[in-house]
Amino acid sequence: MGSIAPAHVPAERIVDFDVFSPPGVEHDFFAAWKSLLDGPALVWSTANGGHWIAADGATVRTLWNDAERLSSECLAVTPGLGEVMRFIPLQQDGEEHKAFRKPVVKGLASRFVTALEPGVRDAMRLLATQLRPRGQCDFVADFAEIIPLNVFLGMIDVPLEDRPRLRQLGVQLTRPDGSMTVEQLKQAADDYLWPFIEKRMESPGDDLFSRILAEPVNGRPWTHDEARRMCRNLLFGGLDTVAAMMGMVALHLARHPDDQRTLRQRPDLIPAAADELMRRYPTVAVSRNAVADVDIDGVTIRTGDLVYLPSVLHNLDPACFPDPEVVDFDRGMAPVRHTTMGVGVHRCVGAGLARMEIMALLQEWLAVIPEFSLAPDRPVTMKGGNVGACTALPLVWAT
Ligand code: HEM
Repeated sequence: MGSIAPAHVPAERIVDFDVFSPPGVEHDFFAAWKSLLDGPALVWSTANGGHWIAADGATVRTLWNDAERLSSECLAVTPGLGEVMRFIPLQQDGEEHKAFRKPVVKGLASRFVTALEPGVRDAMRLLATQLRPRGQCDFVADFAEIIPLNVFLGMIDVPLEDRPRLRQLGVQLTRPDGSMTVEQLKQAADDYLWPFIEKRMESPGDDLFSRILAEPVNGRPWTHDEARRMCRNLLFGGLDTVAAMMGMVALHLARHPDDQRTLRQRPDLIPAAADELMRRYPTVAVSRNAVADVDIDGVTIRTGDLVYLPSVLHNLDPACFPDPEVVDFDRGMAPVRHTTMGVGVHRCVGAGLARMEIMALLQEWLAVIPEFSLAPDRPVTMKGGNVGACTALPLVWAT
């Protein structure tokens, strides 16, 4: 139910728009959001307790960059979520954030991502090869939800036979069905991860957690609580997001057989294609809470207000990208300032890993699966939320 807007919000800024279920999101996440581009650059949603939404590209980007006055502590406009998750480094600000982010960035350095790549490709090729004789699949359940989890578990060096145990958790993360509260989900992730974290803190190996936890924070070791919060951030940060992006990439290719053909004939275009597809299909939105007043677009975001920053309204704003809905691989040839992976001090630490996974997907899926399209008899469905995604993506191909 909608709340009453506070007095400092002008009436013409108020919209009936729930960020968790924008109108029509189940059919098209992007179209549902784009409707906001027709109005003012900053609007107030009365849903979810009431909060601002940055509603054009320039405003999304400007506010995302304003870490001084907009704090990351709240995590989301959902009340209580931030207090449960307490992610490190995502929910930290200022010097504290800098100190904790450094070891995480080091742990995910590009040489480690490069070393992972052959294993990721093998896993994708194997799974695609198993799917091929079926002539159809639900790309979300059969591929996108499986690979990022395997990649993550490989990175923290968990035995292969343990992996099915985390599969259910991965599904709850990517497609929560309401059977678990956020608190239970956090607890399940912690219960699973803790034995590995503890072992890595006692005798480090060369896996991701060991590398990060071996780096001191401000000259002292990580506490157990901090270690848990950081590992939780990596798990929650890297599964849902990559699965969502994989789904969008497969959806695009299923709708554009010409792009499938181009990439099969010109694999050298794959890095640029990955970048352009990631720009075209931004799925993440973040929240901030104002710790100082911010005057912007003729209104004041008051200290204590929440602000929602959807990357989709930056990347699909024609004022920022000409013909933003057109996928043009040439656009990905030069560095593009999109916000799919965020911008500013919190920019995604897993961006290199995510990009590698998307490039590997393009290469391996297209190498194994012949020309594919959307199944004519089953619909594509999507969900909104802080990470928008396809929930079903039925594909077919000739066997
Ligand atoms: C396509 C996939 C991905 C997308 C779209 C994505 C998106 C983002 C965005 C938008 C942010 C900025 C958050 C903010 O400003 O509040 C972020 C931060 C972060 N991401 Fe990703 N991400 C992806 C993959 C990953 C992966 C694979 C990992 C981990 C292995 C990861 C871990 C993190 C962490 C730890 C942060 C917090 C960084 C900080 O606060 O300094 N992400 N991500």
